[in-house]
Parts: sequence; structure tokens; C-alpha cells
Amino acid sequence: MCGIVGYAGKEDCVDLLIDGLQKLEYRGYDSAGIAVIQNSHIEVKKTKGRLADLVDKMETEGRLKGCCGIGHTRWATHGEPSDINSHPHGNERISIVHNGIIENYREIKEFLIEHGYSFESETDTETVLKLLDYYYKGDPIDAIAHVVKEIRGSYALGILFMDFPDRIFAVRKDSPLIIGIGENGNFIASDVPAILKYTRNYYLLEQNEIATLTEKGVDICDIHKNPVKKEIQVADWDLDAAEKGGYEHFMLKEINEQPTSIRTTISPRISDGMPYLEESGMTKEMLKSYSRIYIVACGTAMHAGLIGKYVIEKLAGIEVTVDIASEFRYRNPLITDKDLVILISQSGETADTLAALKLAKEKGATTMSIVNVKGASIARESDIVIYTHAGPEISVASTKAYAVQLSVMYLLAFELAYAKGAITKEECMRLTKELQNVPDKIQDILVLKERCQFIASRLVNAESLLYIGRGLDYALSMEGSLKLKEISYIHSESYAAGELKHGTISLVTEDMPVIAVATQSDLFEKTVSNIKEVKARGAKVTMICREGTVDDKAVANHLVTLPDMDDIMMPMLALVPMQYIAYYTAVLKGCDVDKPRNLAKSVTVE
Ligand code: F6R
Repeated sequence: MCGIVGYAGKEDCVDLLIDGLQKLEYRGYDSAGIAVIQNSHIEVKKTKGRLADLVDKMETEGRLKGCCGIGHTRWATHGEPSDINSHPHGNERISIVHNGIIENYREIKEFLIEHGYSFESETDTETVLKLLDYYYKGDPIDAIAHVVKEIRGSYALGILFMDFPDRIFAVRKDSPLIIGIGENGNFIASDVPAILKYTRNYYLLEQNEIATLTEKGVDICDIHKNPVKKEIQVADWDLDAAEKGGYEHFMLKEINEQPTSIRTTISPRISDGMPYLEESGMTKEMLKSYSRIYIVACGTAMHAGLIGKYVIEKLAGIEVTVDIASEFRYRNPLITDKDLVILISQSGETADTLAALKLAKEKGATTMSIVNVKGASIARESDIVIYTHAGPEISVASTKAYAVQLSVMYLLAFELAYAKGAITKEECMRLTKELQNVPDKIQDILVLKERCQFIASRLVNAESLLYIGRGLDYALSMEGSLKLKEISYIHSESYAAGELKHGTISLVTEDMPVIAVATQSDLFEKTVSNIKEVKARGAKVTMICREGTVDDKAVANHLVTLPDMDDIMMPMLALVPMQYIAYYTAVLKGCDVDKPRNLAKSVTVE
């Protein structure tokens, strides 16, 4: 939700800011802007629209030039996407970019109006700018410290003060911001991919620490101006990982990266053929001690939790409750200090998931997070963290992050089941081996893309779709349905196949295609009966199942068949055709696959 970059150094920073914003565009893409210090002025160029529109604008109106600047790509919260509401906001002496939400901006605005300020935008950010201006008496750190004491909400701020033309200032609370340490200058950025081209070294900024960046170095202090010493973090992501690498879209690239992502995630957590999560701090004794598990997350990550629930309950016999984070945080969940609360998040910054984590901690539960972005808030604040190694996920629609979240869910389920004595060592080793076979199987399934392209061509004109399945297939179909609707804008719903006849089947006509997942042997016959019910009402059915389990046409109109694996592992294979079908449907509809409308990655607002 909004991307921020900034640079203070020796080089002209305009290309560098644009390049950084391009890497962050997944965080918001309804307007873009930069501000640089040029000939003793703060010069701003900003526009509604994509980053490409900003580049066009500079070509028409003239490029900016300067060695110190900040940039922003926006996902609108307060005020529609427009030139005026775009960041940076500023006057002749201060310019700022902001990611987050200022909850008390109305009262601050009233206070400032009483003190003679006027406002031109509808944004909460402009109140921060004017409050900074109000408090600025020649010392930027004093002004920033005053402001952060008064504003409530979440913020990552990049700030230029004209009186200090060689530096940028930054502060954050509950929104991500890193400080990149380069050779010829230093950076601020919302996420690592924005700085990877220039440096791998960075500092993590903690809540309300204030950073001052110049060409020569970075000073960090707290709001009382006490210096803070920082440990340098080293990014282990590849530069190539943040590039499309010849694929038409990041989403397609990321679908194809799944075998590698899974391998890289599970390999360090398997020792002598057994799951090994102890390096995260989760000991066997701890695993044995939990009587209940909560899994809390949003969107796709929550769907990974649903698969986790089925697998953990089935293998380990422990009760698992899966919650949507935005519901969990307000429903007063009955958590105790004997419970384990697992938070799943690709970005590690999702506001609702972070709030759920804080609530779980207040209630005394052990918290474990499964996070993809190193050093993200959710990882830092939880008791135990298991990092997934998917590399940067740039496409807004999550694919490889989901696959690695599932693989961690499986490892955890195996380890829990073994620790609880619910499965033998031999069975645990067999299941672990089966998980290790998944990447190769997925590699084979990736060739199904033409089949899925064909199926997509049959779906592209549909107004609404139904996804059905039972058990693990139902949990997976929720993710398939989300993927389709978020990138192709075709309405779809996922339904437990056995529940259809209790109401929803009345929607089924020849105009409502159905995607049925039927990979679970014990539920197969029952799902086939449900497929027949919708087919009898005219629906064209695409069935995703194992090879050799069904005769073409007799049951479904289109089949996608998968290689055989243990039942519980089948969602890891069936996810690929789900993703492909959504992807190719969106491509055929001409949608902007990697940047679907109204969405942004890393949802740092409630
Ligand atoms: C959908 C998607 C979202 C995210 C959700 C949680 O494709 O990506 O539903 O899964 O916003 O994000 P994280 O995992 O970053 O907490």
C-alpha cells in the first residue's frame, strides 16, 4: 500500500527514484511522483496514473535533476487518485511522501486551520506536511519528533527540508521502511527490491526511530535524539528475482518459480528425512504442549491456513481454528497461554494480521509467524518465525507465496503429528519424502498450460463461476476462486460441493461454468455426484482430478488431470491449474494481470 523511495548521494537521483518506484509499483499504482532538490529549490513532478505516466510527463515538461530526492507510488486511501492528491506533498521548504494512514488527521487539520494553514488536497498526508511546517524552527529532528508525538496511526515518511539540501529524513511506525546503505549514497525504501540494484546492505528502522541520510552516511536516533546503533542486514534475494526475466507477466514467472521456491523453503527444514523446525525455536516439547491452534491471516495466506487446518487435524489430531485476521482482532477470541497462534503473511506487514498477532500476545499465547519478507514487522514481533523462501513476489495476485506457505503447513503438521505420537517415525519420513517429491511433480504439471489456456478460452465470457470441492479440495477451491476474481474481474464463488443443494444450486444454469476439484479419494464419488447434479442443470464443468480416475466427457466437459500423490499432498499439485486458469482468463480478457484494479500488495491499512 504505497511505495516510498528516497536517495541522498553523489549521483543524479531521478532515474534511481523511477527505477525504485518501478520495483515498488506492486504496492500501489494509482498515482506517482518525485521531489528532488534542484538549484536550491524543491522541485516536484507528480501525476495521477501509473509510473509510466509520470515518466511521460517528465519527457513533455522537462526532467528533474538533483542528488537528493524522494518518490512515491500511491494506493489511494484519503482522496481519489488525482494530481493534487498524489505525493509528494510540499511547500517551498518541506516535501514529504507517506505510506500509511493518519487516524487523527481531522483534528490536526482543524488545529492547523485555526493557526492559519490552508489545504489543497483531501489527503491525511498533507496534515503531516503542515504539522511539520508548524513545528519546524530550524531543526528537522525536533520537528519530526514533535509530529510523531501528535499523529496517530501508521506511517512511513520520507522528508526533504530545503534548509538541508544534501539530506533526506525518514521515520516509520507500523508501515515498513528500510534504509539502504550504498557506496555513493544512501536510500530509503518500502521494500528490498527497490534498492537491490544498488546495494544488498540495509538497516531496519524500528518504530519512531528517525533516520538522517546523506551521501556520506546514515544517522539514526530516537525521538529524544539519542543515537541508535544498528546491525546491518544483508538481502539474500537475487536481483533477477525482481525482474520479469522474459515472462509476459510476473504472475506467470512466479507460477513457474514454484518448484524452486518450495525446494528452497523445505530443504533447510528437513534433516535425516524428518521435518526439522527447531532452528526457528519451536522445540518438540513445545509442539507437544499445545492443546489448540489458531491460524490467523488474510486472503490467500488465510487460504493456506485452511489447508493447514485439514492436514494438522487429520494427522496430529489437534483442534485448529482458522480466522480472517480482520474478524479475529475484533471478536474477542478465547485464546489462552496454552494455545499456539500461527500468523501467515507473505509481506509480513498486513495491518490486520499484525494487530491479530499483538492481540494473541496480549492473551499470552505462543505466536509463530510464517513470513516471506525478512525482517518484516510480523516476523519481528512474533515469538517464533519460520521464513518462507519464495523470493520477492511482485505480482499482486499471490501464487508462489501460497505454495511455500502450504509447504510449511505440511512440515509443521508432520512434525506436530510425530511429536504428539499420532504418527510413527516411518510414516513421518514417508510423508516428508512425499513433500520433497512435490517440486518435481509441479514441474511436470507446469506443461499443462495449454490445456488451461483452452479452458480459459471457455470461461472468458462468463459473468459468474462456481468452484466446488470437498475437504481439502474445497479449501483449495477457495484460493482458485479468489485468484480468478481478483485478476479477471469475473465473479466467482467457492462452495462446499455437498452444500450446493441447500440453496446455491438454484444459481446453476448453462451460463454458469463450474470448476470442480476432486482429488481426494475418500470423497471422490461424492464429489462426482455433485458434479453430475450441476451438469444435469446445464453447467459446463471443468474437473481437476488425478489421472485415470474418470472417463473424459462422462463426468465433466473438460478435464485437467494430475499425477498421483498421497491424498493430503494433492492440493499442492491442483493449485497449478487453478492459477493457470485464472491467469489465462485474465490475459484473454486483456486485464492488467500483475496490477489488478483497486488492489495493491502489502495491505498496511485496516
Ligand atoms: C491475493 C493476495 C492477498 C494476500 C493478502 C494477505 O492474491 O495476495 O489476498 O494474500 O492480502 O497478504 P499477506 O500475505 O502479505 O499478509
